[in-house]
This record gives sequence, C-alpha cells and structure tokens, in this order.
Amino acid sequence: MTTAAERLAKTAGAGVLWASPGRVNLIGEHTDYNDGFVLPFALPQATAVSGGRLAERRWVVSSEQTGETVTFDLDGGGKVGGWASYVAAVVWVLREAGVDVPGASLTIASDVPFGAGLSSSAALECAVMAVLVDLAGADVPMRDRPRLAQRAENEYVGAPTGIMDQAASTLCHEGNALFLDCRSLATEQVPFDLAGAGLKILVVDSKAPHAHVDGEYAARRRACEEAAGILGVGALRDVDVDALPDALAKLDDETMRRRVRHVVTENQRVLDTVEVLRAGDLRAAGPLMTASHESMRDDYEITVPQVDTAVRVALEHGAHGARMTGGGFGGCVLALVDEEHCDTVEVAVREAFAANGFTPPDTFVVTPGQGTYRISG
Ligand code: GLA
Repeated sequence: MTTAAERLAKTAGAGVLWASPGRVNLIGEHTDYNDGFVLPFALPQATAVSGGRLAERRWVVSSEQTGETVTFDLDGGGKVGGWASYVAAVVWVLREAGVDVPGASLTIASDVPFGAGLSSSAALECAVMAVLVDLAGADVPMRDRPRLAQRAENEYVGAPTGIMDQAASTLCHEGNALFLDCRSLATEQVPFDLAGAGLKILVVDSKAPHAHVDGEYAARRRACEEAAGILGVGALRDVDVDALPDALAKLDDETMRRRVRHVVTENQRVLDTVEVLRAGDLRAAGPLMTASHESMRDDYEITVPQVDTAVRVALEHGAHGARMTGGGFGGCVLALVDEEHCDTVEVAVREAFAANGFTPPDTFVVTPGQGTYRISG
C-alpha cells in the first residue's frame, strides 16, 4: 500500500512536499491546558501536503480524501468552513505572525485515521504550515510552530485545545517519546525502543461515536481554571502531588475535587513514566498507564464503555498497562504488550466488542514516528 506522501510525490510536480504525523499520547491527559506535562509520540501515519505558489493571493486546496477543491482568500471577510477551515486557519495565523504568505495551490492526502482521537487536525495544520512557510521563504523555527498552530485552532477554528497535539506533530523524533513541559515548552526526547525491549503498543480504535465531546472538553477546562482560581495558583500545574490533600480540602465541590485530583496525579504519573523510560524499564510504564486510565474513568469522567472494555480485556490478557489516549469520550486505547501476547490481546478485545454488541474496533500496532519532515521541493 502506498503512503499519502508517496501518492502526492507522484503528482506534486515542481512544488514542495511536507508531511506531519498524527500522534498517540503515552501518558499525560488533559494536563496540557493546565500548564502541565505530556508524553506523546508521533505515529508513523502522516498527513502529506504538496504546494506550489500562485500569482494571485488566494488558496486553492484539494483533498484526496473528499475529492473536493475549495478556493478562498481571506480578504472578503467571513470564515472558511469544514475541513478547509484548518487550512484557512494556518494562513490566517501566519499572516498574524507577520509572514507574507503567498497564494498557493495545495493538495492534501492523509494516512491518519480521521475522528479517532489521533490528531488528524493537528497533522493537517502542521503540514500546511510547513508548506506555506517554505513557499514564503520565511524563518519560522520549528519550536515556534506549535503555539501558532494551536492559536489557529483556538481562534480561527474555535476549538479550545491545548498544545500537545501540535507539539507532537511538529517536534517528535522517530524512536522517541516527547516529554513536553506545556508551560515553558521545554522538550526532552525520551528514547522509547519498544522492539529492543520485546514490546509492542497495540492501538484499539474504539469506534465509539464522539458525542458532546466539544462541550465536555470545554467544561473540563473551565472547571480546572476555576479550581486554579480558588486555590490561588496560576494553573493546576502549580499544585504538587504532596500538596494535593490540602488543595482538595479547600474545594467545596466534589466534582471539582475529582477533576483536580486527576490533573495533579496525572502530572506526577508523567514524571514517573519519564523516570522509568530514562532508566530503560519500559514495562514499568504499564502500571502508570493503567492508573492514568482509572483516573480518567473515575475522576475526570471522560471514558465510555467501549474504551473501558478494551482496557480491561487487554489487562486480563497480559498487557502490562492500558489506557485511553486523547481527549476522551471514545477514540483510541493503547495497550503495552509483550510481542508474543499482542495477537492474543487483539483477538480478545475483538471478541469482547462483539459480545457487547459494540461496533468492531480497528486495531493496529504503532512505533514512534517522526514529526514534521520535508519530502521534496
Ligand atoms: C485533545 C486536545 C489536546 C489535549 C488532549 C487531552 O487531544 O487537542 O490539547 O488536551 O485532548 O489530553
């Protein structure tokens, strides 16, 4: 099977061609907008974008997936809708940042599953940004791009996401997980050699419908900000796990207490996971992953029966750890499994989904891929 990049390379002509991957998050969920820590890695699956300059200042964007071509300029007022809004958002934010973005013809192809919580939108934003910066001949360092792409998504598309997905899609290195401090944006590439340890990460795409996800995400974010206000800290990142009992005692609302407990303990689990990976003890990440899932299920309340089932069954069949990854209310589960147990876990999860009457899941194995990269041009 050809990749998106290979398909575009055949037709790209004289333009430039870049790719940015989707991501999974090993651990650190709903911590990014609390100025906390995350540990994602890039997928091998990426979104590829080819582009060439146009004489006029307009953008003509074709999607291999939908077969549509959308043309826009940003001077007439009004917003671009649908999938092309992510492209328009990037043009908008680059102009806001002072880049003289030339008109361009862009073609998009993607191998990142859509709507599965694997950051297909960040992959699209980051690949489009790479092409437009290249065509503009502008100097926009990779380390500055996640903030720009996040702003595009927050202010133009209107989704109040944190910075994890755009940072992962841009900054991850093949073979590593990305330890990111979402306040300072300091990064560390943490080696994650699954094959060397005889391990695999099995992804189960639960196919659960994402109901009310935007409203629930925004509500979680608001509760965290409100709690930080009551506790008198800049963000929940500033509450250390040792100070958690005191902090909880200051909050009257039981739901808010649970949200805070998730964020504070999750930040600590990221730090603990980084420690075990630095020490080369990859299996020790398993129990931390499972604890993260339980915290998302019981305290943050963002899981659904399909993902809880996948986690439970994976653990029952020998996974070292398993957790939902991404924003929640569906999406994917990661299971850390010994190579020789991978098939057993996969079959058991499929059988459990069938027995429960759930839509059959997609399952695939992932390895840490490369953030934004240039293919040709
Ligand atoms: C979504 C958002 C991210 C992050 C995760 C939860 O993927 O885009 O910024 O908040 O949810 O960890």
